[in-house]
Amino acid sequence: MKRARNNRGFTLGTLWGLLLLGNVLQDPAGAAPARISLETPSNEESSQFWHISDLHLDSTYHLTADHTKVCASSKGVNASNPGLFGDFMCDSPYRLILSALQYMKDSGQQVSFMIWTGDSPPHVPPKELSTKMVIDTIGNLTATVRNFFPDLQVFPALGNHDYWPQDQLPASVSEVYNAVAEFWKPWLTDEAVATLRKGGFYTQIFQPNESSQPLRIISLNTILYYPHNNATQNMTDPANQFEWLERVLETSHRNEEKVYIIGHVPVGYLPFVRNTAALRECHNERLVDIFRRHSSVIAGQFFGHTHRDSIMVLLDKKGKPINSLFVTPAVTPVKPKVLIDSNNPGVRLYKYSPFTYRLLDLWQFYLNLTDANMKNESVWKLEYVMTKAYGIEDLTPESLYKIVQRFNQSQSKLFQKYYHHYYVSYDDASLICEEHCRISQLCAIQYLDRASYINCTNTEVKKHG
Ligand SMILES: *[C@@H]1O[C@H](CO)[C@@H](O)[C@H](O)[C@H]1NC(C)=O
Ligand SMILES: *[C@@H]1O[C@H](CO)[C@@H](O)[C@H](O)[C@H]1NC(C)=O
Ligand SMILES: *[C@@H]1O[C@H](CO)[C@@H](O)[C@H](O)[C@H]1NC(C)=O
Ligand SMILES: *[C@@H]1O[C@H](CO)[C@@H](O)[C@H](O)[C@H]1NC(C)=O
Ligand SMILES: *[C@@H]1O[C@H](CO)[C@@H](O)[C@H](O)[C@H]1NC(C)=O
Ligand SMILES: *[C@@H]1O[C@H](CO)[C@@H](O)[C@H](O)[C@H]1NC(C)=O
Ligand SMILES: *[C@@H]1O[C@H](CO)[C@@H](O)[C@H](O)[C@H]1NC(C)=O
Ligand SMILES: *[C@@H]1O[C@H](CO)[C@@H](O)[C@H](O)[C@H]1NC(C)=O
Ligand SMILES: *[C@@H]1O[C@H](CO)[C@@H](O)[C@H](O)[C@H]1NC(C)=O
Ligand SMILES: [Zn+2]
Ligand SMILES: [Zn+2]
Repeated sequence: MKRARNNRGFTLGTLWGLLLLGNVLQDPAGAAPARISLETPSNEESSQFWHISDLHLDSTYHLTADHTKVCASSKGVNASNPGLFGDFMCDSPYRLILSALQYMKDSGQQVSFMIWTGDSPPHVPPKELSTKMVIDTIGNLTATVRNFFPDLQVFPALGNHDYWPQDQLPASVSEVYNAVAEFWKPWLTDEAVATLRKGGFYTQIFQPNESSQPLRIISLNTILYYPHNNATQNMTDPANQFEWLERVLETSHRNEEKVYIIGHVPVGYLPFVRNTAALRECHNERLVDIFRRHSSVIAGQFFGHTHRDSIMVLLDKKGKPINSLFVTPAVTPVKPKVLIDSNNPGVRLYKYSPFTYRLLDLWQFYLNLTDANMKNESVWKLEYVMTKAYGIEDLTPESLYKIVQRFNQSQSKLFQKYYHHYYVSYDDASLICEEHCRISQLCAIQYLDRASYINCTNTEVKKHG
């Protein structure tokens, strides 16, 4: 695979490769949050769902005088400012995960379901994990989520860390697929469990009652297309997921269903490096083609993996916006030592029309980790409401595209706001996105296939030398 360099000059392999489990305390979060009151912009009837991702539990996390020993996920590096709720050099202590789920529960929000886009184990070298440890960690977090939300429908997806060795998710039955199929059985149909066992993906209908239009959830195993996955290296259609996806989408057309795509590694180009798709180029091209042809039934796409908050707008070949895609930030605050930037822990709530499944809005919540550790109290807060933050009506492709148009003005204040949200309000005055960085972000938001992405970054080269 290509080893692209990012703006600060280390390889992408280092970046997410380095980001390769971890005694935690009993009582959950700090003070109970006040119930959140969320207004809808219009009077339109709406329903809601939660999205959580990249929990990365490090059960070795504990406070100790030797900061190199706080957590296995810091890989021998000193923790920066360790406290009860975690550290920016470490994956999530169990207490942090409990505080997130407790906040979601205490918020009193009525939700129809939750999506959970993978990555439960910590970033530690493969020799410190095993298939059993990976399975136990996914089992632990599945049980934890169910303890907080016993009656809630959850739709999970597998992440690249949800396997041992990491990234090597196979195109056929495996011990891990079988184990997660057992864990997730209470949430899934027999048919969904069957494809999960064979390839790590599934589809399932969500229909609150017989008079409502059906929503189809498609949970893709995008790790089959991940460049670091040696198990699927030369395969054109690993586990026949493409063929299956096309067949499922054709069924959706016939049955007049709406579809939400969920997955771990996103389609498209990474916003923080140049010329690097998150997936293998050939597989990315094929996914983009499928999403374009079936955009009329796809009402939203939801991913994780980068640990940052970003959006993408899929354009058709004529440049018309046809799909809205969202990458949700991680619960884990971890960063590899070579990076200066990280993210505060985040969880997200979407608002949608229960009739058309049109996306109406999103609420991004976060924990100011520095503050929580200082006060020994986890005060989760609303970070922003997307329609209000960017002055749009809803989250349709047309509305998201308007945001990008406003970003494309030098010194755009709106883009600076987006870039602050990108790190989930992580505090570091040195995080400035100058021209090269801004173009990388803007091209990644709008151009998901190779030709149009390269065209976008080339235009910049011509203009700016
Ligand atoms: C999950 O693991 C933590 C330790 O990291 C432990 O305290 C907790 O009891 C486990 N929870 C479940 C439900 O297994
Ligand atoms: C960790 O911090 C201690 C105390 O400041 C220092 O002596 C030690 O060299 C540091 N270790 C590493 C691996 O940076
Ligand atoms: C995957 O393949 C690369 C290149 O052949 C090799 O360096 C790496 O060790 C392999 N990784 C695993 C987990 O097999
Ligand atoms: C994939 O193809 C390359 C080049 O043809 C070959 O060297 C490699 O061994 C193949 N990998 C697998 C897993 O078949
Ligand atoms: C069915 O669901 C829709 C959408 O959530 C809701 O508006 C409607 O009132 C529900 N009907 C019944 C009979 O519960
Ligand atoms: C986070 O908390 C720290 C410490 O209280 C504070 O300095 C900082 O401004 C807070 N950040 C945000 C975005 O509120
Ligand atoms: C926070 O908790 C830590 C560890 O239990 C303790 O050492 C510290 O004194 C506490 N700080 C405050 C402000 O209560
Ligand atoms: C920004 O707008 C200019 C003028 O409309 C256009 O040529 C350019 O391609 C746009 N750049 C991006 C990154 O969208
Ligand atoms: C390449 O960019 C130019 C100028 O922005 C635009 O007119 C053209 O349609 C683009 N081509 C592709 C393949 O996106
Ligand atoms: Zn992750
Ligand atoms: Zn990941």
